[in-house]
Amino acid sequence: MKIVIIGAGVAGLSIGWKLAAKGADVTVLERANAARAATWAAAGMIAATAESAGAPPAEAALCQASAQYWPKFAAAVEEQSGQRIHYRKDGVLIAALTAEDADALKARAPSRFLNAADAFAIAPMLRPGISGAMWDPDEAHVDNRALGTALAIAFKRAGGTLSINEAVVRIEMDGERAIAARTPFNVYHADAFVLAAGAWTSQIDGLPDGTVPRITPVKGEMIALAPPSGEELPRCLLWGNEIYMASRHGRLLVGATADNVGFDTSLTDTAREFLFTHATGLCPELHKWEIVDQWAGLRPRAADGLPVIGASAVENLFIASGQYRNGILFAPALAESMRAIVLNEPPPVDIAPFSPRRFQP
Ligand code: GLY
Repeated sequence: MKIVIIGAGVAGLSIGWKLAAKGADVTVLERANAARAATWAAAGMIAATAESAGAPPAEAALCQASAQYWPKFAAAVEEQSGQRIHYRKDGVLIAALTAEDADALKARAPSRFLNAADAFAIAPMLRPGISGAMWDPDEAHVDNRALGTALAIAFKRAGGTLSINEAVVRIEMDGERAIAARTPFNVYHADAFVLAAGAWTSQIDGLPDGTVPRITPVKGEMIALAPPSGEELPRCLLWGNEIYMASRHGRLLVGATADNVGFDTSLTDTAREFLFTHATGLCPELHKWEIVDQWAGLRPRAADGLPVIGASAVENLFIASGQYRNGILFAPALAESMRAIVLNEPPPVDIAPFSPRRFQP
Protein backbone atom coordinates (compact mmCIF):
# COMPACT_ATOMS: atom_id res chain seq x y z
CA MET A 1 0.00 0.00 0.00
CA LYS A 2 1.34 3.39 -1.00
CA ILE A 3 0.81 6.18 1.53
CA VAL A 4 1.69 9.87 1.40
CA ILE A 5 1.86 11.75 4.69
CA ILE A 6 1.78 15.52 4.56
CA GLY A 7 3.89 17.02 7.36
CA ALA A 8 7.09 15.80 9.02
CA GLY A 9 6.42 16.94 12.55
CA VAL A 10 6.19 14.58 15.49
CA ALA A 11 2.75 13.40 14.28
CA GLY A 12 3.59 12.76 10.62
CA LEU A 13 6.90 11.08 11.41
CA SER A 14 5.45 8.88 14.17
CA ILE A 15 2.55 7.77 11.97
CA GLY A 16 4.91 7.23 9.02
CA TRP A 17 7.29 5.18 11.16
CA LYS A 18 4.49 2.90 12.42
CA LEU A 19 3.07 2.42 8.91
CA ALA A 20 6.48 1.80 7.33
CA ALA A 21 7.26 -0.73 10.06
CA LYS A 22 4.11 -2.61 8.95
CA GLY A 23 5.43 -2.82 5.40
CA ALA A 24 3.61 0.12 3.82
CA ASP A 25 5.39 2.19 1.17
CA VAL A 26 5.36 5.58 2.95
CA THR A 27 6.54 8.99 1.75
CA VAL A 28 6.44 11.96 4.12
CA LEU A 29 6.34 15.35 2.39
CA GLU A 30 7.46 18.33 4.45
CA ARG A 31 7.02 21.97 3.47
CA ALA A 32 10.25 23.07 5.20
CA ASN A 33 12.61 21.02 7.40
CA ALA A 34 11.61 17.90 9.30
CA ALA A 35 10.54 18.43 12.91
CA ARG A 36 11.46 22.12 12.86
CA ALA A 37 8.05 23.71 13.48
CA ALA A 38 5.93 23.03 16.60
CA THR A 39 7.91 19.85 17.35
CA TRP A 40 11.09 21.91 17.68
CA ALA A 41 9.49 24.84 19.51
CA ALA A 42 7.73 22.73 22.15
CA ALA A 43 8.97 22.06 25.67
CA GLY A 44 8.52 18.29 25.33
CA MET A 45 5.88 18.18 28.03
CA ILE A 46 4.06 14.86 28.38
CA ALA A 47 1.70 16.60 30.72
CA ALA A 48 -1.37 14.38 30.90
CA THR A 49 -2.41 15.62 34.34
CA ALA A 50 -1.40 19.25 34.05
CA GLU A 51 -2.88 19.75 30.58
CA SER A 52 -6.14 17.93 31.21
CA ALA A 53 -7.46 20.30 33.89
CA GLY A 54 -10.82 21.39 32.53
CA ALA A 55 -10.54 19.15 29.44
CA PRO A 56 -13.65 17.25 28.33
CA PRO A 57 -13.58 13.58 29.50
CA ALA A 58 -12.77 12.23 26.01
CA GLU A 59 -9.71 14.43 25.71
CA ALA A 60 -8.60 13.72 29.30
CA ALA A 61 -8.85 9.99 28.47
CA LEU A 62 -6.75 10.47 25.33
CA CYS A 63 -4.14 12.37 27.39
CA GLN A 64 -3.94 9.50 29.90
CA ALA A 65 -3.93 6.77 27.23
CA SER A 66 -1.12 8.43 25.32
CA ALA A 67 0.93 9.06 28.47
CA GLN A 68 0.69 5.30 29.16
CA TYR A 69 2.09 4.54 25.69
CA TRP A 70 5.04 6.87 26.16
CA PRO A 71 7.59 4.68 28.01
CA LYS A 72 7.43 1.92 25.36
CA PHE A 73 7.26 4.41 22.52
CA ALA A 74 10.36 6.24 23.81
CA ALA A 75 12.29 2.97 24.19
CA ALA A 76 11.35 1.90 20.65
CA VAL A 77 12.30 5.27 19.12
CA GLU A 78 15.70 5.09 20.86
CA GLU A 79 16.27 1.49 19.86
CA GLN A 80 15.31 1.99 16.22
CA SER A 81 17.08 5.31 15.73
CA GLY A 82 20.16 4.73 17.87
CA GLN A 83 19.55 8.22 19.35
CA ARG A 84 18.78 9.23 22.92
CA ILE A 85 15.61 11.26 23.40
CA HIS A 86 15.85 11.76 27.19
CA TYR A 87 12.35 10.65 28.17
CA ARG A 88 12.10 11.27 31.92
CA LYS A 89 9.34 10.68 34.43
CA ASP A 90 10.39 13.52 36.76
CA GLY A 91 6.88 14.19 38.09
CA VAL A 92 5.06 17.50 38.18
CA LEU A 93 4.28 19.81 41.03
CA ILE A 94 1.28 22.01 40.25
CA ALA A 95 1.45 24.88 42.71
CA ALA A 96 -1.64 26.37 44.33
CA LEU A 97 -0.95 30.08 44.81
CA THR A 98 -4.25 30.80 46.54
CA ALA A 99 -6.66 28.94 48.80
CA GLU A 100 -9.06 28.83 45.84
CA ASP A 101 -6.39 27.13 43.65
CA ALA A 102 -5.80 24.66 46.47
CA ASP A 103 -9.50 23.79 46.69
CA ALA A 104 -9.65 23.21 42.93
CA LEU A 105 -6.59 20.92 42.99
CA LYS A 106 -7.89 19.01 46.03
CA ALA A 107 -11.21 18.50 44.28
CA ARG A 108 -9.43 17.01 41.25
CA ALA A 109 -7.30 14.49 43.12
CA PRO A 110 -7.46 14.66 46.93
CA SER A 111 -4.81 11.95 47.42
CA ARG A 112 -2.27 13.87 45.36
CA PHE A 113 -2.61 17.14 47.25
CA LEU A 114 0.42 18.17 49.33
CA ASN A 115 0.60 20.86 51.97
CA ALA A 116 3.12 23.66 51.45
CA ALA A 117 5.85 22.01 53.58
CA ASP A 118 5.67 18.78 51.56
CA ALA A 119 5.67 20.75 48.29
CA PHE A 120 8.83 22.65 49.38
CA ALA A 121 10.50 19.35 50.22
CA ILE A 122 10.13 18.40 46.53
CA ALA A 123 10.78 21.86 45.07
CA PRO A 124 12.59 24.14 47.54
CA MET A 125 12.64 26.88 44.90
CA LEU A 126 8.89 27.55 45.18
CA ARG A 127 7.95 30.88 46.69
CA PRO A 128 7.00 30.95 50.37
CA GLY A 129 3.31 31.29 51.17
CA ILE A 130 1.87 28.94 48.58
CA SER A 131 -1.28 27.10 49.58
CA GLY A 132 0.00 23.64 48.70
CA ALA A 133 0.40 21.75 45.43
CA MET A 134 -0.72 18.75 43.45
CA TRP A 135 2.04 16.17 42.98
CA ASP A 136 1.89 13.68 40.11
CA PRO A 137 5.01 11.51 40.13
CA ASP A 138 4.18 10.01 36.71
CA GLU A 139 4.22 13.21 34.69
CA ALA A 140 7.04 13.12 32.16
CA HIS A 141 8.92 15.09 29.55
CA VAL A 142 11.20 14.36 26.63
CA ASP A 143 13.81 16.26 24.64
CA ASN A 144 11.44 17.18 21.81
CA ARG A 145 14.24 18.30 19.46
CA ALA A 146 16.11 15.03 19.92
CA LEU A 147 12.79 13.24 19.47
CA GLY A 148 12.23 14.92 16.08
CA THR A 149 15.68 13.88 14.86
CA ALA A 150 15.28 10.35 16.19
CA LEU A 151 11.84 9.88 14.62
CA ALA A 152 13.15 10.95 11.21
CA ILE A 153 15.93 8.36 11.51
CA ALA A 154 13.60 5.61 12.78
CA PHE A 155 11.16 6.34 9.95
CA LYS A 156 13.88 6.14 7.29
CA ARG A 157 15.37 2.99 8.84
CA ALA A 158 11.91 1.41 8.65
CA GLY A 159 12.02 2.02 4.89
CA GLY A 160 10.18 5.36 4.68
CA THR A 161 11.08 8.21 2.32
CA LEU A 162 11.31 11.74 3.70
CA SER A 163 11.21 14.66 1.22
CA ILE A 164 11.83 18.09 2.71
CA ASN A 165 11.10 21.46 1.07
CA GLU A 166 8.14 19.80 -0.66
CA ALA A 167 5.10 21.86 0.32
CA VAL A 168 1.90 20.13 -0.70
CA VAL A 169 -0.29 22.80 -2.23
CA ARG A 170 -3.08 20.66 -3.63
CA ILE A 171 -4.70 17.25 -3.37
CA GLU A 172 -5.84 15.92 -6.75
CA MET A 173 -9.17 14.09 -6.72
CA ASP A 174 -10.69 11.48 -9.03
CA GLY A 175 -14.38 11.45 -8.15
CA GLU A 176 -14.68 10.73 -4.43
CA ARG A 177 -11.05 9.62 -3.97
CA ALA A 178 -7.83 11.50 -3.46
CA ILE A 179 -5.28 10.31 -5.99
CA ALA A 180 -2.23 12.54 -5.67
CA ALA A 181 -0.52 15.25 -3.63
CA ARG A 182 0.89 18.07 -5.72
CA THR A 183 3.86 20.22 -4.67
CA PRO A 184 5.44 23.00 -6.78
CA PHE A 185 7.96 20.42 -8.01
CA ASN A 186 6.27 17.00 -8.15
CA VAL A 187 3.08 14.98 -8.10
CA TYR A 188 2.94 12.08 -5.62
CA HIS A 189 0.34 9.38 -6.33
CA ALA A 190 -0.79 7.15 -3.46
CA ASP A 191 -3.56 4.85 -2.23
CA ALA A 192 -4.05 6.81 0.99
CA PHE A 193 -3.11 10.23 2.31
CA VAL A 194 -2.56 11.42 5.89
CA LEU A 195 -2.77 15.13 6.54
CA ALA A 196 -0.56 15.91 9.54
CA ALA A 197 0.59 19.40 8.66
CA GLY A 198 0.15 21.08 12.06
CA ALA A 199 -0.78 24.75 11.82
CA TRP A 200 -0.72 24.46 7.99
CA THR A 201 -3.31 21.65 7.86
CA SER A 202 -6.11 23.68 6.30
CA GLN A 203 -3.92 25.45 3.73
CA ILE A 204 -4.20 22.78 1.03
CA ASP A 205 -6.43 23.20 -2.04
CA GLY A 206 -8.33 20.68 -4.11
CA LEU A 207 -10.41 18.88 -1.48
CA PRO A 208 -14.21 19.18 -1.39
CA ASP A 209 -15.36 22.03 0.87
CA GLY A 210 -15.51 21.10 4.55
CA THR A 211 -13.26 18.01 4.25
CA VAL A 212 -10.58 19.58 6.41
CA PRO A 213 -11.71 21.43 9.53
CA ARG A 214 -10.32 24.91 9.97
CA ILE A 215 -7.07 24.71 11.91
CA THR A 216 -5.60 27.97 13.16
CA PRO A 217 -2.07 28.69 14.39
CA VAL A 218 -1.67 29.67 18.06
CA LYS A 219 1.73 31.18 18.67
CA GLY A 220 3.65 30.06 21.73
CA GLU A 221 6.80 31.83 22.90
CA MET A 222 9.24 30.32 25.38
CA ILE A 223 12.42 31.36 27.15
CA ALA A 224 15.31 29.40 28.66
CA LEU A 225 17.07 30.42 31.87
CA ALA A 226 20.61 29.47 32.90
CA PRO A 227 21.46 29.13 36.60
CA PRO A 228 24.25 31.04 38.31
CA SER A 229 27.25 28.80 38.86
CA GLY A 230 26.64 26.21 41.57
CA GLU A 231 22.82 26.52 41.54
CA GLU A 232 20.79 23.38 40.87
CA LEU A 233 17.94 23.05 38.41
CA PRO A 234 14.56 21.86 39.71
CA ARG A 235 14.35 18.07 39.67
CA CYS A 236 10.65 17.97 38.76
CA LEU A 237 8.40 19.80 36.33
CA LEU A 238 6.83 22.89 37.86
CA TRP A 239 3.46 24.30 36.91
CA GLY A 240 1.55 27.33 38.18
CA ASN A 241 1.19 31.12 37.93
CA GLU A 242 0.18 30.63 34.24
CA ILE A 243 3.49 29.03 33.24
CA TYR A 244 5.32 25.72 33.37
CA MET A 245 9.02 24.98 33.74
CA ALA A 246 11.13 22.01 32.70
CA SER A 247 14.85 21.39 33.30
CA ARG A 248 16.61 20.35 30.11
CA HIS A 249 20.36 19.91 29.57
CA GLY A 250 21.39 22.50 32.18
CA ARG A 251 18.75 25.10 31.27
CA LEU A 252 15.30 25.80 32.68
CA LEU A 253 12.69 26.08 29.92
CA VAL A 254 9.79 28.40 30.74
CA GLY A 255 6.60 28.34 28.66
CA ALA A 256 4.47 29.39 27.13
CA THR A 257 2.39 32.20 25.77
CA ALA A 258 -0.67 31.57 23.57
CA ASP A 259 -1.49 34.23 21.00
CA ASN A 260 -3.74 34.26 17.96
CA VAL A 261 -1.55 36.25 15.59
CA GLY A 262 -1.68 34.12 12.46
CA PHE A 263 1.59 32.73 11.12
CA ASP A 264 3.74 35.37 12.86
CA THR A 265 6.58 33.76 14.81
CA SER A 266 8.48 36.92 15.73
CA LEU A 267 9.90 37.11 19.25
CA THR A 268 8.47 39.80 21.52
CA ASP A 269 9.65 41.64 24.61
CA THR A 270 6.11 41.32 25.97
CA ALA A 271 6.31 37.52 25.97
CA ARG A 272 9.84 37.53 27.38
CA GLU A 273 8.73 39.78 30.25
CA PHE A 274 5.52 37.82 30.85
CA LEU A 275 7.39 34.52 31.11
CA PHE A 276 10.18 35.90 33.30
CA THR A 277 7.78 37.75 35.62
CA HIS A 278 5.57 34.69 36.07
CA ALA A 279 8.56 32.37 36.55
CA THR A 280 10.07 34.64 39.23
CA GLY A 281 6.61 35.05 40.77
CA LEU A 282 6.51 31.29 41.27
CA CYS A 283 10.20 30.86 42.17
CA PRO A 284 11.70 34.19 43.33
CA GLU A 285 15.31 33.01 43.21
CA LEU A 286 15.06 32.83 39.41
CA HIS A 287 15.65 36.61 39.51
CA LYS A 288 19.35 35.66 39.72
CA TRP A 289 19.15 33.46 36.60
CA GLU A 290 19.93 34.70 33.13
CA ILE A 291 17.60 34.56 30.12
CA VAL A 292 19.76 32.77 27.55
CA ASP A 293 17.28 31.93 24.81
CA GLN A 294 13.85 32.77 23.43
CA TRP A 295 11.92 31.10 20.62
CA ALA A 296 8.44 30.68 19.21
CA GLY A 297 6.31 28.12 17.42
CA LEU A 298 2.78 27.62 16.15
CA ARG A 299 0.36 25.18 17.75
CA PRO A 300 -2.44 23.81 15.53
CA ARG A 301 -5.89 24.45 17.04
CA ALA A 302 -9.33 23.40 15.81
CA ALA A 303 -12.37 25.59 16.49
CA ASP A 304 -13.40 23.51 19.54
CA GLY A 305 -9.84 23.09 20.82
CA LEU A 306 -10.00 19.29 20.51
CA PRO A 307 -7.68 17.19 18.38
CA VAL A 308 -8.75 16.19 14.89
CA ILE A 309 -7.96 12.51 14.39
CA GLY A 310 -9.45 10.05 11.95
CA ALA A 311 -10.97 9.46 8.55
CA SER A 312 -12.23 12.48 6.64
CA ALA A 313 -15.26 12.63 4.35
CA VAL A 314 -12.87 11.71 1.49
CA GLU A 315 -12.59 7.97 2.03
CA ASN A 316 -8.82 7.62 1.56
CA LEU A 317 -7.79 10.88 3.27
CA PHE A 318 -7.04 10.77 7.00
CA ILE A 319 -6.34 13.70 9.29
CA ALA A 320 -4.07 13.94 12.36
CA SER A 321 -4.06 17.53 13.51
CA GLY A 322 -5.42 20.02 16.04
CA GLN A 323 -3.20 18.69 18.82
CA TYR A 324 -3.00 22.26 20.11
CA ARG A 325 -0.96 22.14 23.37
CA ASN A 326 -0.44 18.38 23.34
CA GLY A 327 1.45 17.49 20.18
CA ILE A 328 4.26 15.69 21.99
CA LEU A 329 1.97 14.00 24.52
CA PHE A 330 -0.42 12.71 21.83
CA ALA A 331 2.26 11.35 19.47
CA PRO A 332 2.14 7.66 20.47
CA ALA A 333 -1.66 7.42 20.68
CA LEU A 334 -1.97 9.25 17.39
CA ALA A 335 0.62 7.01 15.72
CA GLU A 336 -1.03 3.80 16.92
CA SER A 337 -4.55 4.87 16.05
CA MET A 338 -3.70 6.35 12.65
CA ARG A 339 -1.65 3.28 11.73
CA ALA A 340 -4.67 1.13 12.57
CA ILE A 341 -7.31 3.11 10.70
CA VAL A 342 -5.19 3.64 7.58
CA LEU A 343 -4.66 -0.15 7.48
CA ASN A 344 -8.40 -0.66 8.08
CA GLU A 345 -8.00 -2.08 11.60
CA PRO A 346 -9.82 -0.96 14.75
CA PRO A 347 -7.95 1.83 16.56
CA PRO A 348 -6.55 0.85 19.99
CA VAL A 349 -7.80 4.08 21.60
CA ASP A 350 -11.16 5.78 21.28
CA ILE A 351 -10.72 8.45 18.63
CA ALA A 352 -14.41 8.70 17.67
CA PRO A 353 -14.91 11.98 19.62
CA PHE A 354 -12.15 13.57 17.56
CA SER A 355 -13.49 12.71 14.12
CA PRO A 356 -12.68 15.34 11.44
CA ARG A 357 -16.31 14.93 10.32
CA ARG A 358 -17.70 16.42 13.54
CA PHE A 359 -17.61 19.90 12.00
CA GLN A 360 -19.72 18.96 8.98
CA PRO A 361 -23.36 20.01 8.98
N1 GLY B 1 2.20 21.92 25.95
C1 GLY B 1 2.44 23.19 26.37
C2 GLY B 1 2.26 24.26 25.40
O1 GLY B 1 1.72 24.09 24.34
O2 GLY B 1 2.65 25.34 25.71
